[in-house]
Amino acid sequence: MKPADPAARDLHSYARPEQVRVRHVDLDLDVLFAGKMLSGTATLTIERASGSTLALDTRDLRIDKVECSPDGKTWTTAVFAFGPSNAILGAPLAVTLARGAKQVRIHYSTSPGASALQWLDPAQTAGRAHPFLFTQSQAIHARSWIPLQDSPAVRVTYTARIRVPKPLTALMSAEALPGDPSRPDEFRFHMPQAIPPYLIALAVGELEFRPIGVRAGVYAEKAVIERAAREFQDTEKMIQAVEKLYGPYRWGRYDILVLPPSFPFGGMENPRLTFATPTVIAGDKSLVSLVAHELAHSWSGNLVGNATWRDFWLNEGVTTYIEQRIQEEVYGQRRAGMEAVLGWADLQREFGRLEARDEILHVDLEGRDPDDGMTEVPYLKGALFLKHLEETYGREQFDGFLRGYFDRHAFQSITTAQFLDDLRANLISRRPELAEHVPLDQWVRQPGLPASAPTPPISAAFARVESETSRWMRGEIPIGRIATKEWSTQEWLHFLSVLPRQLGAAQMAELDQAFRFTRTGNSEILETWLLMAIRNHYRAADQRLEEFLTSVGRRKYVKPLYEELAKTPEGKQRARAIYAKARPGYHPITSATVDAILR
Ligand code: BES
Ligand code: ZN
Repeated sequence: MKPADPAARDLHSYARPEQVRVRHVDLDLDVLFAGKMLSGTATLTIERASGSTLALDTRDLRIDKVECSPDGKTWTTAVFAFGPSNAILGAPLAVTLARGAKQVRIHYSTSPGASALQWLDPAQTAGRAHPFLFTQSQAIHARSWIPLQDSPAVRVTYTARIRVPKPLTALMSAEALPGDPSRPDEFRFHMPQAIPPYLIALAVGELEFRPIGVRAGVYAEKAVIERAAREFQDTEKMIQAVEKLYGPYRWGRYDILVLPPSFPFGGMENPRLTFATPTVIAGDKSLVSLVAHELAHSWSGNLVGNATWRDFWLNEGVTTYIEQRIQEEVYGQRRAGMEAVLGWADLQREFGRLEARDEILHVDLEGRDPDDGMTEVPYLKGALFLKHLEETYGREQFDGFLRGYFDRHAFQSITTAQFLDDLRANLISRRPELAEHVPLDQWVRQPGLPASAPTPPISAAFARVESETSRWMRGEIPIGRIATKEWSTQEWLHFLSVLPRQLGAAQMAELDQAFRFTRTGNSEILETWLLMAIRNHYRAADQRLEEFLTSVGRRKYVKPLYEELAKTPEGKQRARAIYAKARPGYHPITSATVDAILR
């Protein structure tokens, strides 16, 4: 990293890695469900360049004792002090290092409200017999369960010993090591590759495992494991598709952990162990682009990732581009094309909602929570930027560039400026005659899209959906004659999106009767339908809406539904009533979002 570049400084960490840098984290923790807390030690191996203070990030941690050691054998008590706490960043922790100290051992416990942790009661799991715990460290929540330098530029290796009550299993984003036979409650882990702290992850629950390939498998509760294994059958094919494009999968195993429905995201790319919402299990593999996405992060993000949260588009934009390539390779151009059109529409809608400053890839996050940068822009504008490069230089040359990019920066975190330097050196300078066609500054530092951006893709499948729909809307054919037999989820989603925003009660009922939307088990279709139901006062979906909002905590679904409800006074009242029941089951990330809507 170039410390001279002010944009390279991580605004969201108190760490000063240029003085003292953490290289390895060793965790020794008890998982205490009764007190909703993790308790034990984090031992940090450090590298010292200057100064005698180790600056760490924390949030709501109780620190009991800090010790230093020159050799990992003899320990002396160290002085430590918290700085003032900040609502977004938490509190800095300064440890005064003894001369020659190479390791720092922190005795600590987490608070029950730790922002990275969700503690589920047995009733919130499918099995209903045992509690469940999972972490979500991205973007800056690792500091709420581990005292460390919580900056994506500070990559670490880690080891862990985690003790859990019987008969629960602990999983981490790491290789599982054989346990100590005399300690059946303890699980051991090792992550030998340097990863950013936001990828340290832990889950504890009553879990089963099914292999789905030589190096891929699924973990889930018993009630979901079979459905999950079937849904994710194509995972090995996806891994091979990316390897063919961008080089070997470097993390050993690739497993997917299906979490209870309160998981606040669709997926999280924890290395070796993607965390996924159960709402992707549609029964027909139609929503597995999410697996393609999280898998793609094994290259973009986990192997070469953002150095600061301003560079988040480097993670998500490159990943979304690769996700689209995987979809094309595994499911064909037709499906990839439909998904691209849906994405294009999402991006346009997002531009309509955002301020200009948030339409910029290299977004300014000064004084803001990095989670505020989590819009469609880094994902879809980022992917479009790469698509534009692909179209300009041709697939072969662009694929070669990306493959080289992953090799040149493997296991490093880089800034937007470093990406652009690499792009100029390894792609643009090779074809000087094309340089004028790629306005880099516009792509990265201006709002909206450059005029030369790729045009919205055309999908023949969607054109047919549109013509069928308009024949029905013009009264030329009855609803039952719309040729829906071969429609996939993507075509249904497009169908719902081209219907007029305002429909009468009779038309809503007619649609529901013909296609049973209120009862669909497909979460994407259901969310779109429920939004229409709220907008059009279609009360027959009321109960399903309440059921959905009280059982699913995925923020992408929950947020728009509460927002739509909150648009009218009666809607807001209903939203509050539903939220009163739903809130105890939501993850802190989701409840913070809904609190802000219903305030
Ligand atoms: N890494 C993200 C999730 C994330 C981003 C968590 C920022 C916290 C802060 C993950 O890869 C992701 O993008 N998930 C998407 C699904 C994907 C298919 C677009 C999600 O959860 O909706
Ligand atoms: Zn992602």
